[in-house]
Amino acid sequence: MIVSTGVDIVEISRVRKAANKWKGKFLNRIFTDTELKYVKGKKFLYQHLAARFAAKEAVLKAFGDSSINDMEWKNIEIINNKDGKPIVKLVGKARQTMVKRKISEIAVSLSHTKNYAVASVILVSS
Ligand SMILES: CC(C)(COP(=O)(O)OP(=O)(O)OC[C@H]1O[C@@H](n2cnc3c(N)ncnc32)[C@H](O)[C@@H]1OP(=O)(O)O)[C@@H](O)C(=O)NCCC(=O)NCCS
Repeated sequence: MIVSTGVDIVEISRVRKAANKWKGKFLNRIFTDTELKYVKGKKFLYQHLAARFAAKEAVLKAFGDSSINDMEWKNIEIINNKDGKPIVKLVGKARQTMVKRKISEIAVSLSHTKNYAVASVILVSS
């Protein structure tokens, strides 16, 4: 059963500016090692970073209440399976909230162009 959805759009330039201004401090606060490893070496790495940022925001939006206040950016991780399909992995308090809310699956889809990245998230309970 679909419980909730969340969507977010991010300007690639904002992520690029934040990364250039704050360097590792920004990147390491928001993105996990796995996420940074995925984008490393990509031709348009800021598009992939912005898509992951949008996905994290979309997850927060889908949860949509105060239970998400304690979530940390890195507790929401976007990984890609062998086919490139993105998967949401929650750890820590985010995982606890997922269990508490009886969410069995978090579906995510990403898309990015030169200027924008979007993410759509669906929370499913069994
Ligand atoms: C999946 C695909 C359609 C993406 O379309 P695109 O217009 O090139 O690029 P978009 O910006 O819209 O989407 C890129 C995102 O698609 C997602 N994606 C990649 N492969 C995917 C797959 N197999 N299933 C679902 N999503 C996928 C990724 O999240 C990717 O962003 P990321 O690399 O930052 O994680 C394209 O990569 C493709 O045709 N792949 C090969 C065939 C394939 O696996 N097709 C599956 C669907 S038929």
